[in-house]
Amino acid sequence: MRFLSGFVFAIVVAAIVALGVAYSGIVNVTARGADSAPVAWFLATAKRQSVMRQAAAEATPPASNDLKLGFRLYNETCVYCHGGPGKDPVDFGKGLMPEPPYLADTVAGWSPGQLYWIVRNGIRMTGMPSFADTHSEDELRAVVAFIQRLPGMTPEQYAEYERGQ
Ligand code: HEC
Repeated sequence: MRFLSGFVFAIVVAAIVALGVAYSGIVNVTARGADSAPVAWFLATAKRQSVMRQAAAEATPPASNDLKLGFRLYNETCVYCHGGPGKDPVDFGKGLMPEPPYLADTVAGWSPGQLYWIVRNGIRMTGMPSFADTHSEDELRAVVAFIQRLPGMTPEQYAEYERGQ
């Protein structure tokens, strides 16, 4: 009984502290500057573990080889935030927090199914949108195939895709 009342007391105190923190305004919601190391670790770990868990629960659609379609979508939709070989992100991509990663440097850390999950579902409270309601499965498979080609792609090769549209 004493244990139970102690437990309830701890929950009530935690709830009051959480309310106090929310109402005090001390949580700085600016999109400028970096997170502190513990917050950055927490968010990065929660994201990775969440994507791994959610993607594992869904079947990965077959790989696409429609790189032309994948490029078109990337260049119309993603490049503004993520940039590309020879292309900087635009102003709003540069001002986001967390900053959209340069995908050529990060895609190798994700499986095709995880990349598909991210592009389909987005990542809440970052700038990464969900494309599930605006793009077909074929389009999303194609853009996933294209981003997997980004590592090592030169600006000339990217421009070549642009000319071939
Ligand atoms: C409005 C800006 C924006 C657009 C448009 C956008 N993204 Fe993102 N994307 C982000 C941000 C911000 C993150 C980082 C999220 C984080 O750090 O948790 C991200 C993360 C990702 C990741 C995970 C990368 C990693 O290593 O963490 C992938 C993959 C990705 N985006 C693919 C795409 C693709 C493909 C498109 C186009 C179909 C796209 N994004 C369009 C902002 C954007």
